[in-house]
Amino acid sequence: MTSKDHFIFYGWDTVELARKFGTPLYVLSETAIKEKCERIREGFLKKYPGTKAHYASKAFLTLAMCRIMAREGMGLDVVSGGELQMAREAGFPLDKVSLHGNNKSLSEIEMAMELGVGTIVVDNAMELEVVIQMAEKYDRRQDILLRISPGIDVKTHKYISTGHAGSKFGLPAFGEEIETVEEIAVSSELVNLRGYHFHLGSLLYERESYVMAVDVILDRVSSLKERHGQIIEEVNIGGGFGIPVMPGDRSPDITEFTDPVMERVSEKCTARGLKVPVVSIEPGRWIISQAGITLYTAGFMKEIPGLVKYISVDGGMTDNPRPALYGSKYYAVNAERYGEEKNEKVTIVGKCCESGDVLVRDIDFPRMKPGEIVAVLNTGAYNFSMASNYNAALRPAVVLLGDNTAEVIVRRQTYEDILRGQFVPDHLSE
Ligand code: LLP
Repeated sequence: MTSKDHFIFYGWDTVELARKFGTPLYVLSETAIKEKCERIREGFLKKYPGTKAHYASKAFLTLAMCRIMAREGMGLDVVSGGELQMAREAGFPLDKVSLHGNNKSLSEIEMAMELGVGTIVVDNAMELEVVIQMAEKYDRRQDILLRISPGIDVKTHKYISTGHAGSKFGLPAFGEEIETVEEIAVSSELVNLRGYHFHLGSLLYERESYVMAVDVILDRVSSLKERHGQIIEEVNIGGGFGIPVMPGDRSPDITEFTDPVMERVSEKCTARGLKVPVVSIEPGRWIISQAGITLYTAGFMKEIPGLVKYISVDGGMTDNPRPALYGSKYYAVNAERYGEEKNEKVTIVGKCCESGDVLVRDIDFPRMKPGEIVAVLNTGAYNFSMASNYNAALRPAVVLLGDNTAEVIVRRQTYEDILRGQFVPDHLSE
């Protein structure tokens, strides 16, 4: 087989990568990540001076990714002490970090204060009290945003819709609670209520929802000004920007989401005599998803005549739980015989002890042989970060591709890794 038949990803022969680093293997292209950041700079940050972009680190975070984001001039949205620790270890500028979460622990809030995290996105009234107490302890005036749940239902999987009326996230945009929280925030010397935040959900394609949410938020901005004379500096519209999932899907540019928002913000603020706030965004998937692929080695195959042909690979729901969790669709290719005629329909399954461990259902493939390499595309977001050790599977390595370098940024787990931290009590030792 000549390499001209191999699937090439950003200039790299994926079969050679699989041979060199082993499978399953997460492969990430630094070039692809940078291209997305460049689009954000060109289409948003430079076009609308004063705006900000934070990468939603839950989509994929490692020390190396923190470094890439720092170099690209992005801020970082973190949701846990673990993500914050990673940012800190990587030397990420902590004033450009915002801490999210609907149930931040005392120690996470304390860690954020101690490290001097730029913004805490306050989710509820109880949290605000804790942030105020902690700011007193650390003698800080902490910048905060209030997370608002604008009560907008978006078209996506219900598990990843977050701004609807019944959401566990944020303060409902209407009613007494929000007004009380705003009052506490503006009257405290220990926090600076910089603005509001909303996040509608993930994998969204309708720009109208963002515009509707902006309307809800700007109503709050006006009301705050009227009631307390407080001027809002920042409105963060979250992330959620959709990406193409299957070949042939359109690839929405960042401007398709941000232009209508910027237009609405400027229009409404002018009409109401409000100061135009800094608009910030928090994309995760949009930056990282298409930059990643996962390479697997095909193992046993099973054909049930008239029903299905299975190709089993050496990973599965442990490295990509999204199909099992959300019914997410993925596209895969035979990386060894990429250009060949696709003459059979196959279902690619993982090796976990679950019938739901299906990575790709009913896809046209060239006839596969055991030992050949399969590449699943578009796995950069929420694969590595949601991976598990179910069935005591070892988590794959992550390789970062540059122009001339392919480097391991996370090494493959070993059996020692999965046994680390386990103890047998004395009474079970014999
Ligand atoms: N900002 C906040 C406050 C968020 O909660 C999220 C995602 C984002 C930004 C980034 O959203 P993105 O741009 O990546 O869509 N595990 C799910 C996705 C959960 C998203 C949670 N929050 C999945 O695999 O589809």
